[in-house]
Amino acid sequence: MARQLIDTGFKDVYVLKGGLREWTRAQFPVDIKLVHKRECVSCHLDVTPGIVSDWQLSMHSKNMVSCSVCHGVFHMSEDDVELAKPVEPEKCGMCHEPQWNQFKAGKHAKAWKAMKAVPAAHWQPMLLMEGMKGCGGCHKIGIKTIDEIDTLREEAADFGIASCDSCHTRHTFKKAEAVHPRACQTCHMGFDHPQWEMYSSSKHGVRFFLKQENVLPEDAAAPVCQTCHMQGGNHEVRTPWGFWAIRLPLPQEDAWAAARKKILQAMGILDLEGNPTERFEVVKELDMARLTPEAWQQEREKMIGTCNKCHSVNFAKGELEKGDRMIRKADMILAEAVDIVAGLYAEGILKKPERYVRPFPDLLALHEAATSIELKLFHMFLEHRMRAFQGAFHNNPDYAFWYGWSNLRQDLTEIKEMEKELRKKKQKQTENCNFQIQN
Ligand code: HEC
Ligand code: HEC
Ligand code: HEC
Ligand code: HEC
Ligand code: HEC
Ligand code: HEC
Ligand code: HEC
Ligand code: HEC
Repeated sequence: MARQLIDTGFKDVYVLKGGLREWTRAQFPVDIKLVHKRECVSCHLDVTPGIVSDWQLSMHSKNMVSCSVCHGVFHMSEDDVELAKPVEPEKCGMCHEPQWNQFKAGKHAKAWKAMKAVPAAHWQPMLLMEGMKGCGGCHKIGIKTIDEIDTLREEAADFGIASCDSCHTRHTFKKAEAVHPRACQTCHMGFDHPQWEMYSSSKHGVRFFLKQENVLPEDAAAPVCQTCHMQGGNHEVRTPWGFWAIRLPLPQEDAWAAARKKILQAMGILDLEGNPTERFEVVKELDMARLTPEAWQQEREKMIGTCNKCHSVNFAKGELEKGDRMIRKADMILAEAVDIVAGLYAEGILKKPERYVRPFPDLLALHEAATSIELKLFHMFLEHRMRAFQGAFHNNPDYAFWYGWSNLRQDLTEIKEMEKELRKKKQKQTENCNFQIQN
């Protein structure tokens, strides 16, 4: 949308249509100069000096977006602190409409709901979820409804609802911070999505850091996370395969189709007959997988276009197809392991946890799985399968091979060993039982 100069009486204040003036009118029916006369800053220079100095560094302070524009004018002393307004992403959106609209349409916006949709989420301590010290600390990037915010503020957290400050942190709110790959690091790291580790030690990342250290010249080519995932500054993030690397429809009947079906069943997205379940509806609603060939292809083309800024289309296509083939390889191994555990349930050798809806392993029970063999299966699924294909896509040979593929192979071997042990144990029990009956 075109920017529009709104006459606020201040020099160089450019805000978007539907911006500052309408916004302040709607939210805080006070004259902007009046707001500014109130002494938030002078008192907060003592109360929270770091916040004031960050705000002074921001474009906001230079454009008369004062404390009260975001937090309101109702709190004015130490006795009425609770009247300071929370800042939801909608508020940023009133002046930054394009970014807000893009953000709303992308995957980040869904993060809070996605976290809550995982069955195991409900068995975790509140502190780590709504308290934002664990899952919630990353998934807070997602949009929360007004009801969710009210409950949060009553029960768990007064803050963590702004979403936009995930990449340009308060109160500097700098574009420069958000374009640096470290802006993604806190969340895109670790156990099941080590994109930071993979990227920073890939050739792409190494070149980026060499530029920072002035070994390579500033305009040497080196893509960062944002080059590939926020093309042209677009705040709508989404990848072809997504986090789970599942997509529909299944390919023509072949070995991969069978393996993928089994994984979708173990995720509870398809039932044992292969029909969509209630979890499929969640996948659809939260955009967790591309559900048509076109939707997938569109994202893939976008990615190839990005690689093509530096590489040939031929090179890029070939590299991305290697990532697809890595998913295939990993799926085949995971499916074999799912089969083993499902078989043990079916034969009554392993007791299926009561809370599983179907007589099948439930991968979304995560670390709450009941036995060592089921926990091994969880690690295959969420740690090692992820690393194998994410490592391939992020051009990190060590992650794809040693942290990914090699571990998958070891997991399968261990699962087979455990299966043997469990069967032996069961047989012994049966023999003992028969012996007792005979005597
Ligand atoms: C007379 C001093 C004073 C003035 C004026 C003042 N504040 Fe505060 N403000 C405080 C104190 C004290 C706290 C509590 C700080 C703490 O918990 O350490 C606070 C806390 C806050 C908080 C955090 C609320 C929370 O729940 O922790 C925000 C946001 C805030 N002020 C914004 C503003 C804005 C906006 C204005 C101007 C409209 C303003 N303040 C004016 C003293 C002041
Ligand atoms: C009342 C209007 C208003 C509100 C509300 C507002 N901004 Fe801004 N913002 C501006 C103006 C004006 C600028 C100056 C740059 C420009 O012309 O767009 C700016 C600049 C920015 C920039 C670019 C800074 C740079 O380094 O180039 C970011 C990022 C930003 N705002 C984020 C936010 C976030 C996040 C929120 C919500 C927490 C927010 N803004 C709320 C008006 C607003
Ligand atoms: C505060 C944590 C946080 C930060 C910071 C963050 N992300 Fe995310 N990101 C998430 C979460 C959580 C999801 C999963 C959301 C969902 O799909 O429901 C996600 C999803 C994504 C996806 C979509 C993957 C898919 O399913 O297709 C991409 C791409 C992405 N992030 C890129 C980035 C980039 C690039 C940055 C830095 C500029 C970044 N993120 C910063 C938490 C974060
Ligand atoms: C370190 C930050 C972090 C923590 C902690 C975290 N997540 Fe995530 N989560 C992410 C990121 C980042 C993504 C997207 C990664 C990707 O696409 O590779 C994600 C993806 C997801 C997705 C897939 C979303 C989708 O729409 O595809 C779900 C569901 C999820 N997380 C649930 C959880 C739950 C439940 C917990 C706690 C048991 C948790 N996460 C802990 C950062 C985190
Ligand atoms: C562009 C909008 C914006 C402006 C302007 C702004 N804030 Fe904030 N402020 C935020 C956001 C976003 C948060 C985080 C809210 C959350 O986490 O839910 C926040 C949080 C806070 C907090 C509580 C969190 C903490 O780190 O202690 C205080 C105190 C605060 N602001 C004070 C101020 C003061 C003082 C000013 C003016 C110097 C100011 N803010 C200007 C957006 C703004
Ligand atoms: C995943 C990280 C991430 C999140 C979350 C995020 N931004 Fe950004 N933002 C960026 C990046 C990267 C850029 C730089 C884009 C570019 O290259 O022009 C940016 C740039 C901006 C700019 C400056 C645009 C310009 O060209 O001057 C504004 C304003 C902005 N964001 C507002 C927002 C608002 C509002 C939200 C919440 C709805 C938000 N951002 C959430 C990463 C993020
Ligand atoms: C050179 C381009 C490029 C860079 C740089 C890059 N990625 Fe990716 N990213 C990809 C590709 C390609 C995929 C797989 C796309 C698909 O699904 O086909 C991907 C996938 C993802 C996903 C979805 C899950 C996965 O890993 O497959 C997330 C989340 C993500 N990237 C985040 C990041 C973050 C965060 C960074 C920076 C630390 C980053 N990426 C750097 C190209 C890149
Ligand atoms: C901004 C430019 C740029 C973009 C965009 C980019 N790359 Fe690269 N890429 C490079 C540079 C430079 C190297 C280092 C070349 C070398 O290793 O000699 C590199 C190296 C690689 C390598 C290491 C193997 C090799 O040839 O040495 C692979 C694989 C790769 N890129 C794939 C991709 C894919 C896939 C995409 C898109 C998802 C992509 N790149 C996007 C610049 C880019």
